Amino acid sequence: MAKLDDIKNVIIELFPENALNDTTWEYGFKFNFDKQIKRISYSTNSTPFTITKATENNADLLITHHDAWPFMNEQKEYCNKLLEDNEINHCFFHTPLDASEFGTSYGLASALEMENMKFTAPYYGHLVGVAGDIRSQSFNDLVTMCEKVLYASVHSYQNNDNLCSRVLVITGGGNETSNLDSAISEKCDTYITGEYGMYLQHYAEYHKINLIIGGHTKTEIIGVRNFVKRIVADFNGLQICEIDEPNY
Ligand SMILES: [Fe+2]
Ligand SMILES: [Fe+2]
Repeated sequence: MAKLDDIKNVIIELFPENALNDTTWEYGFKFNFDKQIKRISYSTNSTPFTITKATENNADLLITHHDAWPFMNEQKEYCNKLLEDNEINHCFFHTPLDASEFGTSYGLASALEMENMKFTAPYYGHLVGVAGDIRSQSFNDLVTMCEKVLYASVHSYQNNDNLCSRVLVITGGGNETSNLDSAISEKCDTYITGEYGMYLQHYAEYHKINLIIGGHTKTEIIGVRNFVKRIVADFNGLQICEIDEPNY
């Protein structure tokens, strides 16, 4: 069991100070129910689906990467109401987690056994992508490795005939052509992200960079899992439960 304030302090101390200073809209605590925390559910997204699952799991706290999205209008209000009705505390960490060494892109890059990893790909003043070297292997072998690590099927687009040895990972919605600029400048042969787009494919084809598209939700869950494991390591007897979401 743990007190909410103690959990909040542990979370804040996990991040370097400047990671939380200038991104206050990118993370938040909705700690509205003052109760001992026994069970934490976690997921990439904060949606009616995940909040309902957290309720079924008897969670006292839901930890997510994304907050309910404001551009979905009444859906955000509905999510907040579901949290209220079921007395579930919630916190979300978006960009700070994307830019963290225990976070989303770094977590997937580590799971793929990348070496010489470095942060790249700027996003609102933070670097949210990770470039690095990978054991030299065929494109098909790398696709298989991604599916094993993500526990999900991926979409793959081979745009060169070389062995894969240098990779850029940007988890989640990395389908902007500007995201690929970091793969170009880091001389990567393959770009792994969550979402796909026609512009991205044309740009990747031109630069002969393979694309592996693993889904927004599943590419980010490894970082959320790492984050939650770090939090509960400071407490005795806190139960955790990963919510299995559809991989959109
Ligand atoms: Fe992310
Ligand atoms: Fe995301």
